[in-house]
Amino acid sequence: MKTKQFGKEGWTPERIGNLKGKTYLITGTTSGTGFEAAKILLTKGAKVVMLNRNSQKSDKTILVLKQELGNHIDVSNIVMDLAEMASVKKAVEEVLKKVPVIDALICNAAIAQVPKQTLTVDGFESQLGVNHYGNFLLQALLYPRIEASKGRIVTVGSMGYNLGIKTIQFDDMNWDKNYSPNGVYSQSKLAQIMCVYELQDKLKKAGKTDVKVYACHPGASSTSLIKTSGSLLTRFVWQLMKLSPLVQSAKKGSYPELMCATELNLDESGFYGPTGRNYWTGPVGECNLEPHAKNKSVMEKLWTVSEKAIGLKWNF
Ligand SMILES: NC(=O)c1ccc[n+]([C@@H]2O[C@H](COP(=O)([O-])OP(=O)(O)OC[C@H]3O[C@@H](n4cnc5c(N)ncnc54)[C@H](OP(=O)(O)O)[C@@H]3O)[C@@H](O)[C@H]2O)c1
Repeated sequence: MKTKQFGKEGWTPERIGNLKGKTYLITGTTSGTGFEAAKILLTKGAKVVMLNRNSQKSDKTILVLKQELGNHIDVSNIVMDLAEMASVKKAVEEVLKKVPVIDALICNAAIAQVPKQTLTVDGFESQLGVNHYGNFLLQALLYPRIEASKGRIVTVGSMGYNLGIKTIQFDDMNWDKNYSPNGVYSQSKLAQIMCVYELQDKLKKAGKTDVKVYACHPGASSTSLIKTSGSLLTRFVWQLMKLSPLVQSAKKGSYPELMCATELNLDESGFYGPTGRNYWTGPVGECNLEPHAKNKSVMEKLWTVSEKAIGLKWNF
């Protein structure tokens, strides 16, 4: 751990005070870390607006949360599929109508290890399309409301940023020539993380100090991630790993995003997650981030390429 600011146990949700009056938008709450994060925010009295692609699963999630926490909780869903720009735009319209204040947008949803190259309806390779472009568009469209709310943007990355080619494959963004399930997942997570630090730079340059932007990762957590999109073999290996102490609970995996959404005076330049072996499990705090994730020329180029891809310029 680089800093021991939260003591031996690391950051835990016990540090969160009463969140009554606060509103959190969170993507991907039908399972895994997103579900656990939503649940903890609700137990602290927050209003939670979930952004999920599947309304049936969302209804079930709301039912489960109400059964566990009581009918008084303030939770709702707006349908949004990160794989479709039109769906993201439609969801944002609804958010802007229904959610006057956004204390934090937590970009948690993702897919991983998609076995064969698949394109989204907008023509993006699916992992990059969902994990990076989908979230990038969502953030760009909600930025004015987040700024007016003096809120935060939290991106859930992955230690996968440090695997694969460790840069962005600008000459073949869809990986037509060398598709690999893990290589592209790693690329998508690196892209997400890079855009956090590039956004911080851009906000600083524009003299905007009201919005805070954070990058974190959940370590290795027992969730549905591989089950949802991975191949049979990856699913089998991951199922075995989940039984070992190398993998922690989804609840613990939600702590880094909760910390980034709620902790006061958290240094934006950090990368937060479990700080134990390989950063897979352990007390939550600041993790070392390898220099390629903050390569300025790649970050700038990625920003330009991403704005072009979503057909929109961020309006600071
Ligand atoms: N678990 C780990 O060990 C691990 C490690 C590193 C990083 N992460 C990161 O942690 C975050 C949470 O993942 P998780 O592990 O909790 O996985 P998970 O249990 O599979 O949850 C992913 C959530 O994202 C949603 N989602 C997927 N595609 C979507 C789309 N196109 N539009 C909207 N929502 C979509 C899923 O909804 P559906 O129910 O509709 O599929 C689900 O609610 C991800 O960013 C992931 O990359 C996880």
